[in-house]
Amino acid sequence: MTKAPAHDFDRRASQYEDHAPVQREAAAWLAEWLPDNIEGPALELGAGTGLFTRHLVGRARTLIASDAAPRMVAAGFTALPEAKWSVADAATPPGGRGYGWIFSCSLVQWLPDPCEAFCAWHRASAPGARLVSGWFVRGTLGEFFATCPEASPFPWRDAAEWGRLLGQAGWQTARSEVRTFHRHHADSGAMLREIHNAGAVVPRRIGAGKLREALRRYDRDHRGESGVRSTFEFLRVEAVRS
Ligand SMILES: C[S@@+](CC[C@H](N)C(=O)[O-])C[C@H]1O[C@@H](n2cnc3c(N)ncnc32)[C@H](O)[C@@H]1O
Repeated sequence: MTKAPAHDFDRRASQYEDHAPVQREAAAWLAEWLPDNIEGPALELGAGTGLFTRHLVGRARTLIASDAAPRMVAAGFTALPEAKWSVADAATPPGGRGYGWIFSCSLVQWLPDPCEAFCAWHRASAPGARLVSGWFVRGTLGEFFATCPEASPFPWRDAAEWGRLLGQAGWQTARSEVRTFHRHHADSGAMLREIHNAGAVVPRRIGAGKLREALRRYDRDHRGESGVRSTFEFLRVEAVRS
């Protein structure tokens, strides 16, 4: 039996940005680590509609922005035609070898085999290349997954585990930092709709009854004066190709 994908980014492309406030903030936070001038060929993977790409286009002379979802790429191209857009899986980077810079934002947690992707990025880059990347780590949506662990689309790793995986793939971490973001929602149903509309999918096998019960517990345990809170833990990393 083929496993249903844990996301639906292609179908959600036209509405993604309206439901991705945390990803937008995280992209701006990651962009703090960008130099004013990005010299040499640069590649962004999982670029989506371009929330992070917009921080790159003014700085990079040669930028390829790629994503596995064709409708994300179409939306990105419409918004930011300055970049060269390409449909590509993160494990098979487009354009061959020799990139001086590899970027990604809010992508890596979705990769089925991140180590394979990190190795592919290593092969696609030049000696001394820099990787600037940020993604969600363990603790993200912790309130929800505490009430329904089976809803998690993948096993979460913490920053130390990610650092080790990068090292195994030949990327030496120069600096890394985790920041916590919070969102407030009217209730847990609104929280779930937001992550759904941004492209995440709760596995069908959970069933409606179990999910309803999990959301009821979420509302009971996490409701404050301004509704319920959700937590997002975002890791930003700058690494050098060793
Ligand atoms: C949460 S969105 C982030 C988009 C954008 N980088 C941002 O910061 O808003 C994740 C993106 O990763 C893409 N994606 C997921 N798995 C992928 C893979 N294996 N290869 C390439 N892109 C992938 C999705 O299509 C989606 O556009």
